[in-house]
Amino acid sequence: MGAYQDAWRRSVEQPEEFWGEAAAGISWYRQPDRVLDDSNAPMHRWFPGGELNTCYNALDRHVEAGRGSQLALIYDSPVTQTKRTYTYDELLDEVARTAGALRDLGVGRGDRVVIYMPMIPEALMAMLACARIGAIHSVVFGGFAAHELAMRIDDAAPKVVVSASCGIEVNRVIEYKPLLDAAIDEATNKPASCLIVQRPEAPATMVAGRDHEWGPVVAAAAPAPCVPVAATDPLYILYTSGTTGRPKGVVRDNGGHAVALHWSMANIYDTAPGEVFWAASDVGWVVGHSYIVYAPLLAGSTTVLYEGKPVGTPDAGAFWRVISEWGVKTLFTAPTGFRAIKRDDPDGKLMAAYDLSRFRYLFLAGERLDPETYLWASEHLGVPVIDHWWQTETGWPVAANLVGLEALPIKPGSPTVPVPGFNVQIVNETGEPAAPDTEGLILLKLPLPPGCMSGVWGDDQKFIDTYLSHTPGYYLTGDGGHFDPDGYLFVMGRVDDVINVAGHRLSTGEIEEIIASHPNVAECAVIGVADTLKGQVPRGLAVLKSGVTRDHDEVAAELVQLVRDRLGAVASLRQVDIVDALPKTRSGKVLRKSMRAIADGVDMPVPSTIDNPATLDALRPVLRPQG
Ligand code: COA
Ligand code: AMP
Repeated sequence: MGAYQDAWRRSVEQPEEFWGEAAAGISWYRQPDRVLDDSNAPMHRWFPGGELNTCYNALDRHVEAGRGSQLALIYDSPVTQTKRTYTYDELLDEVARTAGALRDLGVGRGDRVVIYMPMIPEALMAMLACARIGAIHSVVFGGFAAHELAMRIDDAAPKVVVSASCGIEVNRVIEYKPLLDAAIDEATNKPASCLIVQRPEAPATMVAGRDHEWGPVVAAAAPAPCVPVAATDPLYILYTSGTTGRPKGVVRDNGGHAVALHWSMANIYDTAPGEVFWAASDVGWVVGHSYIVYAPLLAGSTTVLYEGKPVGTPDAGAFWRVISEWGVKTLFTAPTGFRAIKRDDPDGKLMAAYDLSRFRYLFLAGERLDPETYLWASEHLGVPVIDHWWQTETGWPVAANLVGLEALPIKPGSPTVPVPGFNVQIVNETGEPAAPDTEGLILLKLPLPPGCMSGVWGDDQKFIDTYLSHTPGYYLTGDGGHFDPDGYLFVMGRVDDVINVAGHRLSTGEIEEIIASHPNVAECAVIGVADTLKGQVPRGLAVLKSGVTRDHDEVAAELVQLVRDRLGAVASLRQVDIVDALPKTRSGKVLRKSMRAIADGVDMPVPSTIDNPATLDALRPVLRPQG
């Protein structure tokens, strides 16, 4: 049996033995009483009784082991022309003082801190500082608008919000502080303090008594020591889009997270201490949490924090420059970034100018890797291009080619095989196991391995209702797909109302709620349609209230702007069509799937449950003018 098969089998047949061994990779103040507590199934707990500190494992222990002068963090920011490096010694000092500053602002174990930041070192420092004092961080992606931030502030009820005066999008300065002020105005749970990094590109106006400047406050703070926390204590809350208008707060614990991510660096990513690992994502997404911040540091590697884009900062050679300049061994990003590079530099000519000899692997995730992009990247780079599949909820890959354990042959279009710990099952609509090559729902048999979500913030029942009730004993991923006869998994896309836009996860339901809030709109539908660059983009269809005689283009433009203002530019909603009616079933359900099929040019029979076939026909030229 190969090393992969052996590990996977042990992980599902003897999970306590398997993960008990993996836990030895982490330093504990108190060893766990047991590995897995299943007494409250379906809510499983990993490493109960154990005490640790995630920040200690990410920083202090490497310094204590004599590796303080090794690089921990490389900050590379083409948008500000800045490059800065931090050794483990230096990063520990910054983080300990940041933790001291938060403690001085009254933050203690179990308190929440919302972090709304661009891609600057202080974002990572704030996250680790929370972990250091046992506080729970909740990072909100900087591209979200004030209303999205307000919803998250209300749900997490933070004592402090950490932010920056601005972010920089290629060559456009986005002032964050007015968005933060508006969010706090809107929120009911107002934070007592804000800690703000002043950036020279757009310094912020401070609110006296509430706002504090990061620079002087952190410089003056005494370093705070690590606070031991329970393995089962939350490390962070990360909100993610579901099918409703309100994002869910995915909770991750300390112990399982540290064990799983540490294990993943060697076994999935083949990255050792001292090697340079770069996740070109954003700290606001799960990829950023796990693979910009925690995993590389838990493993004692060097992480790259890149404040730039794959193209336009300054060109499609940006990734190759960073790889060659810093000796990156492993790059992890979303396929959309590579589609952008391919669009601007189809023959990969810009690669020739850089030394890519230390580059070994490209990992891609966040959306389906289309075979064309896979082939382009592997032909031009000459390194393994590894598709792997996971979600905010799982926190680390569910399916991958575990090159650190045993590299398997690659099949384009497949993220390869289930990662040890994940018992992946495909079932058909009636819940029966699906045969190989047959599409179905992708489920994960409980218990989920360490590192996966331990609950929904403040609402355990929502965790059970949303994920664990569809098929008792299984977690519902929301993705559809199949296994091939060799046991390779193929993930074909979401079966719910979640869409992936340039690797950003959005809910069509949430966009619909915003459009429906316009006073002229009677009803609406939002669908995700295929896009050659971003994978998917949302499209809106709105029916106006009777008696509204306004110009359709004018209303449509207002609806586009409304979504941009309330959700953020990342929604990438460019088109809303004003239509006479929406196609529905006899029970009144809008036929979004049929509309999406027409927009994407996919053949799909008209459902027999349709109430108004003429309405669907009338939409054909709107949804797909050429076809
Ligand atoms: N703060 C403020 N605004 C932001 C933002 C942030 N952190 N991130 C994105 N935006 C804005 C963009 O400026 C853009 O605004 P615009 O409509 O006024 O032009 C809008 O949100 C859409 O952004 P994006 O989806 O990133 O599209 P883009 O056209 O600017 O760039 C890519 C396209 C492919 C280059 C870009 O999506 C990319 O780099 N993707 C990499 C994948 C990635 O990081 N995925 C994360 C999960 S792994
Ligand atoms: P997020 O929670 O933002 O990480 O988004 C998770 C969703 O992205 C998954 O449920 C999938 O729909 C999609 N996704 C992520 N990685 C892949 C992949 N490698 N292949 C196909 N879909 C993916």
